[in-house]
Amino acid sequence: MSQTTVAPDAVDSTTLLALARSFGSDPAFSTCRELEHRVDDAIIRAFGHDDAAAELDLHRFLYEISAHRILPPWSPHWRDYEHPVLLAAHRKAGEAWLARDLADLDLGLDVPASARPFIAWAEETCKNHASGVDHPLFTFLAEDATFGQLRTFIDQETPFDIHFGDLLALLLPGVHGGEKIELAGNFWDEMGRGAVEATHRRLRLSMMERVGVPADAYLVDVERFWLEELRLANMYFQASTDRRLAPQAVGMLMATELVVPGRIDRQIDGWRRLGLTDQEMHYLREHVTVDVEHAQGWLDNVVIPIAEDRPDLMPDMAIGVLRRLDGALGVCERAWNEFRPMA
Ligand SMILES: [Fe+2]
Ligand SMILES: [Fe+2]
Repeated sequence: MSQTTVAPDAVDSTTLLALARSFGSDPAFSTCRELEHRVDDAIIRAFGHDDAAAELDLHRFLYEISAHRILPPWSPHWRDYEHPVLLAAHRKAGEAWLARDLADLDLGLDVPASARPFIAWAEETCKNHASGVDHPLFTFLAEDATFGQLRTFIDQETPFDIHFGDLLALLLPGVHGGEKIELAGNFWDEMGRGAVEATHRRLRLSMMERVGVPADAYLVDVERFWLEELRLANMYFQASTDRRLAPQAVGMLMATELVVPGRIDRQIDGWRRLGLTDQEMHYLREHVTVDVEHAQGWLDNVVIPIAEDRPDLMPDMAIGVLRRLDGALGVCERAWNEFRPMA
C-alpha cells in the first residue's frame, strides 16, 4: 500500500513525529524501545518541567497519529499507524497530558449539581470566558488585520476545524434516541444536508483555496501549526475516541457551539473589509447561523438528558467545557501575540 513519502530534510530526525513516520508496520525491536524511551522522556520534560519544546514534540506526535488513523488506505495520505507499540505510546502521551490538564483545572469549581443550573453555569462560563468575542484578537481581526494575518488565523485553525465532521461522527456509535438524532442532525449539517458542495469540509477547503492556504497541509505539514492549535485538535480527538471521556466531549461540543458564532462574525467583518465576497466566505457565514441552532439543540437534547439521568457526569462535562475554553484561549493568545501591533 502506498505511503506518502517525506523528503529526508523535511523533518528533524530527532523528533517523535519523525520517529512515528519511520515506524512502519514491522519496526525493529530497537525502534520500539527508542520510541518508548523518547515518549517517556518527553512526558517528563513537558509535563514535569514545563518544557514547551517537549510538549510541542508530543502534540505533533499525538496529532499526527490521530489525524492519520481516521484515514482509509485509499487516501493518498494514509499511513499505517496501527502498531501496538505506537498506539501504546500515543495513549501514554495523551493520558499524561490529560493528567496534567486535570491537575491544572480548578476542580474545586462550583459546578451546579442539577441540570438546569448546570446549563446556566455553562452558558455563563462560555459568555464570560477570556477566549470569547471580547478578546482583543477579534476586534483586531475585524478592524486592522492584514490579509496575511487573517489567512494565518484560518490556516492555524485548520487541524481542529477540518476534522469537525469526523469528530462528530466518532461520537455517533453507542448513543441512541434523542441524543443520536441531535448528533445526526448536526452531522447532516456538516454534510451539507446531502449536497457535496455544501459540506462544511468542502466549504472550508474552498475558502482556504481562495485565501491561499494549502489544502493538505493539515496532514503533510504538521510542523507549521502552533502548539496551542494542536492541543485543541488533540483534545477533541482524545475525547471523541476514548469512550471514557465522552462526557468531556459533550462539554467540549457544548462550549464550541456556544462560542463560535460571535467569534466568526468578527472574522467575516475582517475579510469583508479586505474584499472577500459573501460567497467566498460561505464557510464562515454558514456557521454564524447554524451553530446557534446547534447550541440550543445540543443543550436540550444531549446535555440536559444526560445531566438529568446521570448527574454524576456533570463534573466531567464541566471539565470538557473548561478544557475547550482554555484551549481556545491558548490559540487566541498565541494569535494575538503573533499579530498585535508592537508599540
Ligand atoms: Fe461545521
Ligand atoms: Fe455546529
